[in-house]
Formats: sequence, structure tokens, C-alpha cells
Amino acid sequence: MNFHILTLFPQMVEQGLNTSIIGRAQEKGILSVETINIREFTMDKHKKVDDYPYGGGAGMLMQAQPVYDAYLHVVEKIKTRQRPRVIYVTPQGKTFKQEMAKEFALEQDLIFLCGHYEGIDERVLEEIVTDYVSIGDYVLTGGELAAMVMIDSISRMVPGVLSNKESGETESFSDNLLEHPHYTRPEVWRGKEVPQVLLSGHHKRIEEWRKEQSLERTRIRRPDLYEKYLSNK
Ligand code: ADE
Repeated sequence: MNFHILTLFPQMVEQGLNTSIIGRAQEKGILSVETINIREFTMDKHKKVDDYPYGGGAGMLMQAQPVYDAYLHVVEKIKTRQRPRVIYVTPQGKTFKQEMAKEFALEQDLIFLCGHYEGIDERVLEEIVTDYVSIGDYVLTGGELAAMVMIDSISRMVPGVLSNKESGETESFSDNLLEHPHYTRPEVWRGKEVPQVLLSGHHKRIEEWRKEQSLERTRIRRPDLYEKYLSNK
């Protein structure tokens, strides 16, 4: 799977995604993360990429031309027959969910467009964007962090990225349930004991306990998900 990130701050994204599990997956050749600096595509002699909004108002907007040319550069490089999906990360998008991570993980190439300032000229968005996606109802200073969140989450759904194949499946949000609690050594810590059932070696009882915990935790912490779970059962 190949990620192509159109951004004004390539270093920010590179540093965040070149370590840990995503870094290892890149070394193994399962993933590639390429950043494209939009500024390199401006035709302005001062390397400017932004301008004032027509109609007035606060802040500056990213101009259409450098964004479009950066996009064309990627499209030319990947040479797929199909039009690649272009995700514009924006608080105006559909909220990113685990299900989306799984769906995006099936693509060969994904292009992320990160905005800055007050946004991007609408005309280039109309021309290239296929998906408008947000990471939640709050506003960030730019799209980079949001793109990194999505890339991290999509990557771990790509086969081979996680070492234990199982861990991608039995975890929070599969079935709309949160995961059960986990414990490791020591058996007693600050007077708190590990639940006895986990020490019993009785696999069926352990599974039942975990399921109960998962249901209870979801009901209390995320009643919205719990309702979904009940209605999908
Ligand atoms: N850019 C700024 N805020 C954002 C958000 N909440 N999600 C995605 N992109 C953003």
C-alpha cells in the first residue's frame, strides 16, 4: 500500500510516520509513505502558495494551481488505470471510523491532501477530491496530524503490518464493542490483584469473563456504541 501526502510540511509527516510499527512496515516494503511538498509546485517566483479570499474575510487560502500540479505529479507517477482516491482531511468531512480504516486499507494507492491557513480554493477540491474525511469535531491548525492519525489506523489494517494477525481483529470496535481489560505481571500491584479467573487456566471461563467485561465497559463508557451493538445482534 502506498500513501502519497500532499502537504506544506513534509518533515512533520515524515518524522511521525518513520518510526515504530509504520516505520518497520516501510522497511519491510509492505507500506510506502511519500510526501509531496506543495510549495515545490508553485509557479510564483516567491514560492507563494496562498492568497486572499475573494469576497473578503479573515485569513489566507491555499491556491488551486500548486495543489493541482502536486496532485498531477503523483497521478503521473502511480499510473493506475483507475482514478486514485484523494482524501481531503477537513473538519467538514465524514468522521473517520474503524470501518473506514478497513475499507481504505484495500486500496493500492491513497493520496492525502493536507490543508493549511483558512482552507483551499474550492475549485481544486471539486476537481480532485474523492473523500472528505474528519478525525472529529474539533479544529486543528492543519491537516497533517489528522492525515497521520488516519494513515496509522489504515496501515495496521494492511496484512503483514501487525506481527500478530489476530490483533487486528479482536480489539476495540470490532462488533461495536470496546476491548476487555488486560493484566500482566506482577499478580499483585499496590494491593490490587489480577482477577482470579485469568489465573484459572480455564479458557472457556476466561472467554466468558472477557466478553462480559467488554459488554459492561461499552455500556458504561460508550452507550452510543452499546446501542449499536444491541441493534446489530
Ligand atoms: N483539519 C483541521 N481540523 C481537522 C479535523 N478535525 N479533521 C481533519 N482535518 C482537519
